[in-house]
Amino acid sequence: MARIVLDKVSKIFKGPKGEEVRAVNNVSLAIEDQEFLVLVGPSGCGKSTTLRMMAGLEEVSRGAISIDGKVVNDVEPKDRDLAMVFQNYALYPHMTVYENMAFGLKLRRYPRAEIDLRVSQAAEILGITPLLDRLPRALSGGQRQRVAVGRAIVRQPKAFLFDEPLSNLDAQMRVQMRMEISRLHQRLAATMVYVTHDQIEAMTMGDRIAVLKNGEVQQLAGPLELYRHPANLFVAGFIGAPPMNFFRGVLYGNSDGLHFCGNGSPAGIKVKLLPEQAAQLESRVDKPIILGLRPEDVHLATDSPRTANGSIVEAVVELIEPLGAETHFHLKTGQHGFICRMPPAEPGKPGQKVFVVLDLTKCHFFDPTTELSLTKPG
Ligand SMILES: Nc1ncnc2c1ncn2[C@@H]1O[C@H](COP(=O)(O)OP(=O)(O)OP(=O)(O)O)[C@@H](O)[C@H]1O
Ligand SMILES: [Mg+2]
Repeated sequence: MARIVLDKVSKIFKGPKGEEVRAVNNVSLAIEDQEFLVLVGPSGCGKSTTLRMMAGLEEVSRGAISIDGKVVNDVEPKDRDLAMVFQNYALYPHMTVYENMAFGLKLRRYPRAEIDLRVSQAAEILGITPLLDRLPRALSGGQRQRVAVGRAIVRQPKAFLFDEPLSNLDAQMRVQMRMEISRLHQRLAATMVYVTHDQIEAMTMGDRIAVLKNGEVQQLAGPLELYRHPANLFVAGFIGAPPMNFFRGVLYGNSDGLHFCGNGSPAGIKVKLLPEQAAQLESRVDKPIILGLRPEDVHLATDSPRTANGSIVEAVVELIEPLGAETHFHLKTGQHGFICRMPPAEPGKPGQKVFVVLDLTKCHFFDPTTELSLTKPG
């Protein structure tokens, strides 16, 4: 078991013209013993580089990585006692499943009985006991992925590092393997660091999630905390599908209180802020601001409704996406396009005028320059 700490870690590569490529910038993270930590972010944000530095496959340019209190910057990968599972799991094609799993232990000269025991236990956990005599080419993608995980399990490492291990699988198999890896985590009670660009994988698997962008951690929190209280515009837009709606506009005050007014003419959206929001945003009057609201906090009504917390906006339906369990309405008000998530039976057709109730208690506000969140919604 292991606690892995990154202290102000940076990785600077040399580009083709000798220029510096800062792949990871000043990342500090403490991955607790037995924790399942997910690193998530778009392509090129530094996820793999961060993981490879933990494994020792990539040198640290600045900062320190420690495992259980010991700095490992200069420790060889094989002496770190971490097992890594890659997206391209490259099983040895001429070896059986058993031999593939046993190979690492054989190299380390484990006794035969010990190897037998570990391989059969790992195979049992992963449900691949009947496949032990097969060659990789006779396995499905999901089965091969299990063998790759098995190779890591038999080593009984201090921690597991996964780099997008499921991205070669089809959607259905991904969901199944996702559950299996979560179960494995519970069963082995091991520290796991898991890299993905898929926010659903991140949300469903992680005890905590570190959201990365341009080599920097944007926010580190549990899945629901990230969803409810995104620290900035990037996290707000990255976590959640369909993504949060953003309305650019300004705040203005009058005798009636503080109001948000969307940019453009017609503005489309004009709402009165709740007293607690007004209190937090007073210093922002007459300044640009971004209002964020998730699609499930926007409600559709065919006739003008009145609710205590809602603010009503008129919009036009542009597109309807029926997904079965729910329907997404793509709407437009003034210059602003946005999405509303409704139960499946909601009527409506493109071009139709509708009334939209915004749940103001759920509004987020962001500074357009710093992109930081300015309020904590309820
Ligand atoms: N060996 C290298 N030399 C130069 N630049 C590199 C090297 N390896 C990675 N990079 C750059 O570092 C940045 C981070 O790469 P990294 O592979 O960590 O991203 P990632 O988040 O894993 O992306 P993906 O989701 O596409 O796998 C990228 O801009 C990449 O081009
Ligand atoms: Mg990667």
